[in-house]
Amino acid sequence: MTDQLIAPPAVEAPPASWWRNAVIYQIYPRSFADSNGDGIGDLPGILSRLPYLRDLGVDAVWLSPFYSSPQADAGYDVSDYRTVDPIFGTVADAEKLIAGAHELDLRVIVDLVPNHSSDQHEWFKRAIAEGPGSPFRDRYHFRPGKGENGELPPNDWPSIFGGPAWTRVEDGEWYLHLFAPEQPDFNWEHPAVRDEFKTILRFWLDLGVDGFRVDVAHGLVKEDGLPDVGHAAEWHLLGVGESPCFDRDGVHEIYREWRKILDEYPGERIAVAEAWAPTLARVADYVRDDELHQAFNFSYLGTAWNVPAQQQMIDDSLAAMRVVGAPTTWTLSNHDVVRHSNRLLQTGDGEVAGRRPTAVDPVAGLRRARAASALMLALPGSAYLYQGEELGLPEVVDLPPEVRQDPAFHRATGQDGYRDGCRVPIPWSGTEAPYGFGPDGGGSWLPQPDSWAQLSVAAQEGVPGSTLELYRAALAVRRGMPALAPTDNLRWVPAPDGVLAFERAVEGRPVFRCTVNMSGQPVAVGRPGELLLSSGALDGTADNVVLPPDTTVWWSIQD
Ligand code: NOJ
Ligand code: CA
Repeated sequence: MTDQLIAPPAVEAPPASWWRNAVIYQIYPRSFADSNGDGIGDLPGILSRLPYLRDLGVDAVWLSPFYSSPQADAGYDVSDYRTVDPIFGTVADAEKLIAGAHELDLRVIVDLVPNHSSDQHEWFKRAIAEGPGSPFRDRYHFRPGKGENGELPPNDWPSIFGGPAWTRVEDGEWYLHLFAPEQPDFNWEHPAVRDEFKTILRFWLDLGVDGFRVDVAHGLVKEDGLPDVGHAAEWHLLGVGESPCFDRDGVHEIYREWRKILDEYPGERIAVAEAWAPTLARVADYVRDDELHQAFNFSYLGTAWNVPAQQQMIDDSLAAMRVVGAPTTWTLSNHDVVRHSNRLLQTGDGEVAGRRPTAVDPVAGLRRARAASALMLALPGSAYLYQGEELGLPEVVDLPPEVRQDPAFHRATGQDGYRDGCRVPIPWSGTEAPYGFGPDGGGSWLPQPDSWAQLSVAAQEGVPGSTLELYRAALAVRRGMPALAPTDNLRWVPAPDGVLAFERAVEGRPVFRCTVNMSGQPVAVGRPGELLLSSGALDGTADNVVLPPDTTVWWSIQD
C-alpha cells in the first residue's frame, strides 16, 4: 500500500514575534528572474514572481545585494550603499518590490555589507587619488609594507579568496582586503565608518525593509596592530579557532548600537548575522537580547547525515541559543556552499566552505536532500531556504571555466572557489533555456543544464510527490500547526538504529512527530498517528510504515 498525504490542518498559529519561527527564502537576485532579457535577474523580475513565493508559503525573503557595484564579487562589493545597480533596477523598483511583498504578507530582508566596500566606492577612490596621508585612507586599512623597500605585505594574513590579504598601490602603500582586492576592508575604528552605516541602516529602514542580513558580521573589528597570525598557510579564516581579524569582542558594541536603531522602527525589524565564529557559544553572543536577532547556524549546515551527528548538533544548537533567549536558525544551502542535494552525499562530513562540488547520483542526492529539508523544517526556530532548493536543483558541477564568475575561482587557491554551481538561474517553465528565467530568446548569465526542463516550477506545480509540492505541503503544515511554533518543545523519542525521531508538544502533550530514516536500509516503524507528510513514497500496513532509506515523515499524534 502507498500512503496518501492528508491535507494540512487549518489551525492558526498563535501570534508570536514573526521572526522567531519564520521561514526565510533567500533570493539571489541575479539568478532568480530576469525581466528584460539581458540574462541577469533583476528587481522587476522578483516582483513578478512574488505570488509564487506567497504560494510556496514562506514568511520573508532575504535578497542578496542589489546595490551599485562593479560586480567583482557578485554585488558583495558595493560602490554605493544607497542606490540600486542599473543591472538590477532602481531605488523605485526596490520600493515597489518592498510594497508588493508587504501586500502579500511577505517581509523583506536586505543584505548589508559592512566589512568592506568596493574599490570603486567614493571613499576608496579618494583614498587612492589623494595618496598617503589622505584622511580617506584612515577609513580603510592602509599600511606601509615590510622589507627593505616595503615590498612585502604588512602582515601574513591570507585572503579568503586566495593569495595575500594585501594589495600594494602605486604609491607603495598596501591596503587590506580579506576577500578580493576589489573589496577593501573598512576600518571600523573610524567614527565616520560607524556613522555612515547607521545612516545606511536608516535609509533602508525608511524605505520599509523588515531587516538586514549582515555580511561577514564577525569581521568588522580587527585586532589592534593587525598582528601576524604566524601559521598562515594552514589557516582557515572562517570560524576555525582564534583569529586576529574575526570574531573580536569589539564587534558587539557595533551591534548593540544597530539594535537600538532597529528597535526605533515599528514592526520588529530584524538583523541576522553571517558570523562564522569558532563555537556555537560564540555565535550566540551575536544574538544576545540587545544585539542582533538571529545568526546563521553554519555548524548545522556542515553536519554529517547520521543520527548521532545530527542529534548532537540539534541539541547543541538549541542549547547554545537558549542561553541568550534567541531562536535557533537552520539552513542547508545558500549562495556560498554546494547545494545540499549534492553536499549531503559527498564524502567528508564537517567542512563546508572549501568543499569542491562533485557529481553524485542525482536520484540519491535528491532523496537525501528532501529528507534533510523535511527534517530541518520540523525543527524549532527559524529556517532559511535558498532559491531552487524547493525545486530540488542539483549543484551544477560541470560549468566550463570560461563562464565562471566567482572571483575565488579565478584566484585559484581560494577556499570558496567553487560557488558558481549553486548560482545557476532558476528554471520556471518551458522546454528550452532560459526556461522562463527571462524572456524567450534571452540568455542566462550562467548556462542552465538541459535536464532542468523537468525541474522547472511549471513542471512540478500540482504534481503529487514533486519537490515543489513537498515544500509547499511542509510549509503549510508548519504554518497551520501550533506545535511547530514554539522554539523550546522538542523531545527525542526512542527509534530503531539509524532512525532519528523527535516530537513537538503543546502544553506538554506531544502532538507532532518527525521520523527520519538515515540507516541506509528500509525500516518499519509503528504509526504513532496520522501521516501528515512524507519526503518519499512509503510502503506499509495499517499498523506499520516502511520508510525507505533517506526518508522523513511527519505525523500528527492523536490521544
Ligand atoms: C559572504 C557572502 O555570502 C559571500 O558571497 C561573499 O563573497 C563574502 N561574504 C564577501 O562579502
Ligand atoms: Ca535583467
